[in-house]
This record gives sequence, C-alpha cells and structure tokens, in this order.
Amino acid sequence: MKELLYEGKAKRIFSTEDEQTVLIEYKDSATAFNGQKKADITGKGRLNNEITSLLFLKLQEQGIPSHFIKRISETEQLVKRVTIIPLEVVVRNIAAGSLSKRLGIEEGKELTKPLVEFYLKNDDLGDPLLTRPHIYELNIATKKEITILKKKALKINTFLSSFFNELGINLIDFKLEFGKDAEGSILLADEISPDTCRLWDKKTNEKLDKDVFRRDLGSLTEAYETILARLGGKQHV
Ligand code: C5P
Repeated sequence: MKELLYEGKAKRIFSTEDEQTVLIEYKDSATAFNGQKKADITGKGRLNNEITSLLFLKLQEQGIPSHFIKRISETEQLVKRVTIIPLEVVVRNIAAGSLSKRLGIEEGKELTKPLVEFYLKNDDLGDPLLTRPHIYELNIATKKEITILKKKALKINTFLSSFFNELGINLIDFKLEFGKDAEGSILLADEISPDTCRLWDKKTNEKLDKDVFRRDLGSLTEAYETILARLGGKQHV
C-alpha cells in the first residue's frame, strides 16, 4: 500500500509493500529562504530525480553507500528506509552563500582546504549552525559518528569535485544528509542535486543551481537541464 509518510518542501515520502524501503517523489516546487520564497516549476522534480539518481549511482561505484536503490519513474525513486540524522552536513570548497555573509569572505574565494559544517535540521529554528559541543549536548550524534560523517563528507567531496571538474563545472559547496539503516549503519541519504549544491560553469562562472531561483538570475530548468546534459543524462528540451 502506497501511504504518504511525510511531505517536505521538495519531496514526498511514501511507504511501499516492503517495510525496508520507501518511495521518494520529487515535486515540481522550488522554495528558498526557509520557505519564504516559493514557486511551482514544471520539470524540476524530474530533473532532480534524474540528477540525484545519476550521482548516487556514481558514488556507489566509488564505494560510497547510500539509501538509493533505483529510479522507478520520471519523478520517483525507490530507496532504503533509514532514520535521518537531523543534521545538514555542508561541505565548502569556495566561499559563497551564508559563509560569505557570516564571515565576510568574498564570494568566489577559494578556501585553503574544504570546510565541513554541521547545521541543525530544524525549519522552526532556521537550521542554525552547530558546534560539536552543541551536537553532543543535543544528543544528535556521538564523537565517533561525527568523525564518520566528516570523513564520508570529505570523500564525497573529493569524488564529486573532480567529477564535476571534468564536466567543466566548479563544485562550490553542497549539503548532505545521512541516515541510519536497521543495522545502525550510516548511509548517505536525501538528494544531491542543483537544489543542494552550488555549481558554477568553470569558464563563465555562470550559476547552474538553485541560486538562479534564489536570486532571480534566469530559468531554473535551463540551468538544471545544462547540469543533466553534462552528466550525460537525457535532455528533455
Ligand atoms: O546557504 P549556505 O551557503 O549555507 O548553503 C551551503 C550549501 O548547502 C548550498 O549549496 C545550499 O544549496 C545547500 N543547502 C541546502 N539546504 C539547506 C541549506 C543549504 O541544500 N537547508
């Protein structure tokens, strides 16, 4: 029985007949600034489903396990059921977004080494930045788990940075989420798409990610189609 378990800003999660799996449906909605800016964008769900599926398969080939099982339709994928760890793990290679705003580092400045940050996944609190003592105080993860999360995030960054680089794209920063499966193993979960990454064309610095929507820079679907085409996926334009 397909029962709606959870509806988020960009995705819906449904149960399946197998209690070890759930179905994720990618919606055609775009939101920014913690839901303050919203729009329906036809095709966005299909694009993010296809891009995430491609990237999760590539990561699995690199020995990075995730919840991803298979893409089952234009907008849906089947994934392993996990309990999401309520952290947004952000990796940054080049200063942009909230880092530039918070620390005054010029947007586009290369960081001396990749930065890993943890934010609390809590819309009501506006996803605040967390220090490690905050994480332990809130009982979100142990020291050992934080070490695992950081190591996984950096490994994913090493692979994705060089993968996108070969496609003429700079991976500026991105957000990951992780979950625990029934055995307690930590798996990469959620999505990796232009909604959750900053992706700039290497030659022109053109933004090919959700900043196009956040900052009204043009057509979001054109930007996401460009990413999908460079990844070698189908183009639907
Ligand atoms: O806004 P900020 O600069 O902290 O975002 C860092 C990266 O994490 C960006 O690629 C952004 O798209 C992603 N992010 C996300 N979901 C959030 C916050 C940030 O995907 N809730």
